[in-house]
Amino acid sequence: MPDQTQLKEMLSELTGEVAESVTYLRELGVEGLESSVDFPARVETRDASSQSRAASPAPTVPLPRALERNARAEGAGKPPPRIILPPPPRRAGGETTKASYQSAMPKKPVRPPSPNPPAPRETLFGEIAPKDELSLGRPGETFDDIRDDIGECIRCPLHQGRTKIVHTEGNRQARLMFVGEAPGADEDASGRPFVGRAGQLLNKIIEAIGLKREDVLIGNVNRCRPPGNRAPTTEEAATCKPFLLREINVARPDVIIVLGNTAMKNLLDTREGITRLRGNFQDYKGIKVMPTFHPAYLLRDPSKKREVWDDMKKVRDYLNENKKS
Ligand code: URA
Repeated sequence: MPDQTQLKEMLSELTGEVAESVTYLRELGVEGLESSVDFPARVETRDASSQSRAASPAPTVPLPRALERNARAEGAGKPPPRIILPPPPRRAGGETTKASYQSAMPKKPVRPPSPNPPAPRETLFGEIAPKDELSLGRPGETFDDIRDDIGECIRCPLHQGRTKIVHTEGNRQARLMFVGEAPGADEDASGRPFVGRAGQLLNKIIEAIGLKREDVLIGNVNRCRPPGNRAPTTEEAATCKPFLLREINVARPDVIIVLGNTAMKNLLDTREGITRLRGNFQDYKGIKVMPTFHPAYLLRDPSKKREVWDDMKKVRDYLNENKKS
């Protein structure tokens, strides 16, 4: 059996988790939390005296202070609600441990986007109109936090036709990142960026400058495949892009190669076309950006490979000349 201090520690951790879930459900506008919460832990609002006394009453813990304040305001004079914890599960030997308790707790729910978009606001990336709070970056966040926030995304219509969300992949400490437009059929089926014919060519381009695919980071402006491989609309791109920008901010590569017009326009917020800007370093928040042609375009017009090779050499030279010791 855990001793009292361990039990207290377990309870306070679990209280935090339950409170977080309750706060989160409230944020989503889920109603009726006062009478039932869809977790093993529930928030009790009934007067303690009116409760039927079970032989072994479930342990209760007070609500965290912030929630208690809310509950008092809502409950006008009623005693503060308490969180009733589920009976701790027992292992075969009858012993309850923190691990066995936690394994029986529900996993953190996959967070869908909140239904009410917040107003445009000044962010790390300038003023943007985020689709929801979860698309906004937070200090100290990680790739996994961003992945969690994306969740089983339904923020734009592209989710309707997707098989898999295609997340950014590769070395999160990479000095070089590639950004494409959106997944095609092969990427949609596998859940990985640039694995189709254009991806095979991209692998060769990466190897041509002495790197391997695993050395670099590869992502897209949009993570769901547009029907018929059309370009994402402005709205679709604006919805998905904040997550890519957050990843860029976490990874801070030395150079980003934007592949093709759509990726370039989205990252650089420019009206210029790829033919004009390719081959010349641009800037995104202090990161060098090299626009070049998309490998899918090279498959259609192999004569353009020469220009891409010129652009890649500039990137290779920049990386070699700016090695950090
Ligand atoms: N084209 C892109 O822009 N991205 C992919 O992941 C695949 C093809």
